[in-house]
Amino acid sequence: MKAIEIRNKYLNYFKNHGHKVIPSAPLIPENDPSVLFNTAGMQPLVPYLLGEKHPEGTRLTDYQKCIRTNDIDEVGDNRHLTFFEMLGNWSLGDYFKEESIKMSFEFLTKELQIPAEKLSVTCFGGNELLPKDEQTAKIWENTGIPRERIYFLNDNWWIAGETGPCGTDTEMFLDTGKPKCCNECNPDCDCGKYVEIWNNVFMEFFKNADGTLTNLKQKNVDTGLGLERVAMLLQGKETPYDIEIFVPVMEKLSKLQKVDEIHSRRIIAEHLRSSIMIISDGGRPSNLDRGYVLRRLIRRMIRHMNKLQINLDELGNLIDLDINVLREMYPELSAKKETIKSVILEEKDKFVKTLTHGEREFAKELNKIKNSGKDILEGKVVFKLYDTYGFPPEVTKDLAVENGIKIDLDEFKKLYKEHQEKSRQGSSQKFKGGLASTGEMETKYHTATHLLNAALKQVLGSHVHQRGSNITDERMRFDFSHDSKMTDEEKNKTEELVNKWIKEGIKVEHLEMRKEEAVNMGAEAMFIEKYGDIVSVYKIGDISLEICGGPHVENTNELGHFKIKKEESSSSGVRRIKAILQ
Ligand code: SER
Repeated sequence: MKAIEIRNKYLNYFKNHGHKVIPSAPLIPENDPSVLFNTAGMQPLVPYLLGEKHPEGTRLTDYQKCIRTNDIDEVGDNRHLTFFEMLGNWSLGDYFKEESIKMSFEFLTKELQIPAEKLSVTCFGGNELLPKDEQTAKIWENTGIPRERIYFLNDNWWIAGETGPCGTDTEMFLDTGKPKCCNECNPDCDCGKYVEIWNNVFMEFFKNADGTLTNLKQKNVDTGLGLERVAMLLQGKETPYDIEIFVPVMEKLSKLQKVDEIHSRRIIAEHLRSSIMIISDGGRPSNLDRGYVLRRLIRRMIRHMNKLQINLDELGNLIDLDINVLREMYPELSAKKETIKSVILEEKDKFVKTLTHGEREFAKELNKIKNSGKDILEGKVVFKLYDTYGFPPEVTKDLAVENGIKIDLDEFKKLYKEHQEKSRQGSSQKFKGGLASTGEMETKYHTATHLLNAALKQVLGSHVHQRGSNITDERMRFDFSHDSKMTDEEKNKTEELVNKWIKEGIKVEHLEMRKEEAVNMGAEAMFIEKYGDIVSVYKIGDISLEICGGPHVENTNELGHFKIKKEESSSSGVRRIKAILQ
């Protein structure tokens, strides 16, 4: 069964069981600078897991594009991918353990026709906070998995990051039929006999910064099934590179290569797909954060093309070929093909120049090391190659290995971190410095956004929450949760309220406090669990209280006249207002 068929079966199955199919959120989380990429299907749904009403109801299903960057170095082996697709279904305070497990079992055994004998499951084994999850084990037993294939593990617990919604989970594994590696071999073992395919998380807690758990308003289920992995298993393949998503590019690479190396071929195919998907969702190469991940993916791909002695002029054709394959699953790629291609090719040109300079510099350093009888390249040299010649550390590492020397990556990482800190401070200073001239309007729009958010709550109701915002010095754009088109009367009332508050000349106060305190005071925030312990809060009289980095004006009377230019739909259950200050 092709991956797209599995995806369709999945969405249909859950649709037939009362779930609404919602679209995949973009890979780059909207308005959440604290995470680089969506790493799980639940990430865009956090507010709803915490209790907010989702416009589509309490049962949802989707396919979510995900990137997990901590696996980049593993790519090239037989299972790690940076980009992957996660199929998910959610209960937002609706069904819980029993129904969730029954549906998973039915989907696997009836829809995908996996023989029940090949399934093993794991349940939470208990810790100092919570007991062993016998209830889940019982449900599995009643459903058709015998005790001997139900395992209890202490780490069957799922949370994204350090704090946030979380809970115990139960994981499903497919037995590949390989012999047990030892007597103790069980699904926890990574010998390859058992492959995890699905994870059902029973999200009923919120983990606080001090490590304690609080009950969420509702008991949720969050499940995630790794699409490429299931496709690989159902097709009886050994690696994801052997399924239809990767085969055309892998075969093309085999034809183009002058050196045969499977590891490099996989890296090229994987990084090409990830780069295409990130660029399609708006990512661009740069030296910081998301942009750096993308830059690293493209550059690593090119390094490996060089290694296989594939002519770099072939890159354009490879992109065409891959987009052709991928657009069956991601039709949005068709319209973006030219942009994607030019971004990758431009980055390639830059990198080719860098490689030439960097390799020359590396050769000098190598000489120095050899002459001094050492066998390790210091972190500061790795950093100099990176900072001055744009030479990525992983390329330096590859070169070092090829030349039989080591590199001090820990020291490099330390220096890199310091560099990141400095550029962050630099850009916020740049912003501050610019306020007097160019940033003044943006600052006003920031404050107007808070007033608009508050006014919409008063006019439309407390279900209104910010879903996004975008500000230029000419206008503001504000996305918020609301189901229907606003009437003229509602728009007028909103405008009037904002203008009234502007006229009243209310002081805008900037406070810093503990996150818990801000939450207790009722502060608004888009992704509360993403903030650190101490948060920056802006208070506008009794009208608005929001966790926000600013900047803001000092008094609302600085804003001028507020006018709504347009009100339209942004996505399902989300409206968008464009407004200006005159
Ligand atoms: N959030 C869980 C995971 O990523 C289940 O979807 O595994």
